[in-house]
Amino acid sequence: MKAVVISSFGGPEVLELSEVPEPPVGPRDVLIEVAAAGVNRADVSQREGNYPAPKGAPEWPGLEVSGTVAALGHEVSEFAVGDEVCALLSGGGYAERVSVPVEQVLPVPSTVSLVDAAGLVEVAATVWSNVFLLADLRAGETLLVHGGSSGIGTMAIQLARARGARVAVTAGSAAKLDACRKLGAEILINYKTEDFVGRLKAEGPGAHVILDSIGGSYLERNVRALAMDGHLLNIGNLGGTPGLLNFGPLMMKRGTIHATSLRARSAAAKGAIVSSLRENVWPLIESREVKPVIFARIPLAEAAEAHRLLESSSHIGKVVLTT
Ligand SMILES: NC(=O)c1ccc[n+]([C@@H]2O[C@H](COP(=O)([O-])OP(=O)(O)OC[C@H]3O[C@@H](n4cnc5c(N)ncnc54)[C@H](OP(=O)(O)O)[C@@H]3O)[C@@H](O)[C@H]2O)c1
Repeated sequence: MKAVVISSFGGPEVLELSEVPEPPVGPRDVLIEVAAAGVNRADVSQREGNYPAPKGAPEWPGLEVSGTVAALGHEVSEFAVGDEVCALLSGGGYAERVSVPVEQVLPVPSTVSLVDAAGLVEVAATVWSNVFLLADLRAGETLLVHGGSSGIGTMAIQLARARGARVAVTAGSAAKLDACRKLGAEILINYKTEDFVGRLKAEGPGAHVILDSIGGSYLERNVRALAMDGHLLNIGNLGGTPGLLNFGPLMMKRGTIHATSLRARSAAAKGAIVSSLRENVWPLIESREVKPVIFARIPLAEAAEAHRLLESSSHIGKVVLTT
């Protein structure tokens, strides 16, 4: 079959459409004929040589797909051949076919097209597992999302609003902030012209939960922006890794800092998140309270273009590759 492989570590040009072996289908696996694959920042890091594929995962990138069930392992009874599904992967999504443990597979919601469903699972799983399962964001509380117009941000805004929370976002342009407002964000902060700590304090007690993908350069300000008993969730380091933490303010707020990663979790751990998504998030998608925000659909053979787009940060929402 064909897949987009990383021919050597480097820029987007190292992505090449090549022949690779068909994926093996284990007893509890679902073989998916891929319709589309979501593009994630982790794929960019993997391409640059900074984020190797987890043990046992295909070498080629791709953490989420949508498509049609092509075959089933002999122990799988949850799906049938021909079902439209989407799945959370450990890798290998930039391909014509991918094999994935059944626990990581979800039906495509009836309100979402098969292609657009490729942009749902990774962001929903990341936001749900962090903001709700780990930090337990409640109705009436405030969530601060850095990079509000990102794939992660567009899902975080909608989920938090659907659960009755107030959402603050940071973004780098008026157009991005307007997109966040349309999705339900109420406190809109252009980080290039405004200090997010001052704004959060002016608007109330601070953020009960902060979803942060910027990292070290925001650490001290994030702690200052927290409300009492608040949770700072770090999921990325777009602004650099090292940061200086003064434990005094964190202690006085009884604050908690978590740093988490989804990709290297076991199939069982991913399965637990996927099952929670099906129970709690899929109904919100079915009722159209939450929808995937797809900025571009680009052919798989042009994966390099998709990476250039993501790295330009000119997009709002998700970029997906179509087969
Ligand atoms: N830990 C996990 O399990 C996990 C899972 C999924 C994603 N992530 C991480 O979550 C973050 C967001 O992912 P995504 O796919 O939603 O990203 P994305 O759609 O590519 O958006 C990232 C946005 O961050 C903003 N940004 C701020 N500072 C930046 C900087 N120094 N460099 C580049 N962008 C910067 C940009 O918007 P502005 O123009 O507003 O600055 C950019 O559009 C990434 O760091 C990703 O690796 C982590």
